[in-house]
Amino acid sequence: MLSRIKAIAAKISPRLIEIYHHLHSHPELSGQEYQTAAYVAGVVSSCGLQAQELVGKTGVVAELKGTHPKAHRLAIRTDMDALPIPEQTNLPHASNQLGIMHACGHDIHTTVGLGTAMLLAELAEELPGTTRFIFQPAEETAQGARWMINDGVMENVAAILGLHVFPTILGGDIGIRYGALTAAADDLEIIIIGESGHGARPHEAIDAIWIAAQVVTTLQQAISRTHNPLRPVVLTIGQILGGRAPNVIASQVKLLGTVRSLHPETSEELPAWIEKIVAAICQPYGAQYEVNYQRRVPSVQNDAALTQIVEAAAQEAWGSDRVQILLEPSLGAEDFSLYLDQAPGTMFRLGVGFPDRTNYPLHHPKFEVNEAAIVTGVVTMAYAAHQYWQQQKALPE
Ligand code: NI
Repeated sequence: MLSRIKAIAAKISPRLIEIYHHLHSHPELSGQEYQTAAYVAGVVSSCGLQAQELVGKTGVVAELKGTHPKAHRLAIRTDMDALPIPEQTNLPHASNQLGIMHACGHDIHTTVGLGTAMLLAELAEELPGTTRFIFQPAEETAQGARWMINDGVMENVAAILGLHVFPTILGGDIGIRYGALTAAADDLEIIIIGESGHGARPHEAIDAIWIAAQVVTTLQQAISRTHNPLRPVVLTIGQILGGRAPNVIASQVKLLGTVRSLHPETSEELPAWIEKIVAAICQPYGAQYEVNYQRRVPSVQNDAALTQIVEAAAQEAWGSDRVQILLEPSLGAEDFSLYLDQAPGTMFRLGVGFPDRTNYPLHHPKFEVNEAAIVTGVVTMAYAAHQYWQQQKALPE
């Protein structure tokens, strides 16, 4: 089967490069993937799958029916959105949309999703179960997965597979991680409310800027003293808003940040912990405060059995020296985790690095991918799906 899969992948690879170039040159921002969705629906329809558009606002869902109609579904999820970054690659297929760029490789993900659909469509008679292809919008804003789930894409899905490109892994290599792959990411807003006054008479006012400065430094110091260092947590205040004039004491300051953690228990404790610290700083000086803690996405926790299927499939396809077991998770976030609340799943890393030149990071205006990765991604995904169905010995009647 593997040699057949590789042969089909080789046959469709020129078409996949074409698809990738088209997607890369036509990037669309999160929630506005209308043309991308229409294009994706066109490609899947052309290989005989039924595509449903405008699922989860601008998403697409397509199904490849298995020979055993009642079997639960395996979902393959890819994301389609680009970023508000002006591209600086000088590639012939660079973005033709001013200020928008596929700088996170979601164009590669979409291409791999399409390639896997094209490939498995040729093997349809040999797949017992139904494969559902989820082309998700708005991953960058952590909204798309929720939109898709609310529209029912996870109904009757028994397992889900996903991938993300990685520039520090060599093009065509695969990275596998058991357990936590990415962090939980939460939004933090702290408002310090003091009292305005003359800059020369601070004792008559309540200085919100001075208090906010203490909140920022204390949070950073306290986090290293009160949390288990073996359970990573990062708190970044990325924006401070406040004050009106150099000689006027600020009455209000807003601190905006992001909080990342890997262990669900740590994530659970954080809102109350932050509030306790902010309260303790404000109280002696008579300032008021508000802490708004918004959970955005949980950590991606890869399912062991499914990760094993992908690892074994990748090793069989490419040899063990091209498959790395990743020792470290990332503190980045990925809304793939929301699907994992509905069904077990796993996400692998697809290397897109070049051996002989600078590999710019994700979200960089010069980020480029090694196109050799496309076929690797498609074969790995398709073979893993095939192996998944092989292992579902007793499908329900
Ligand atoms: Ni991404």
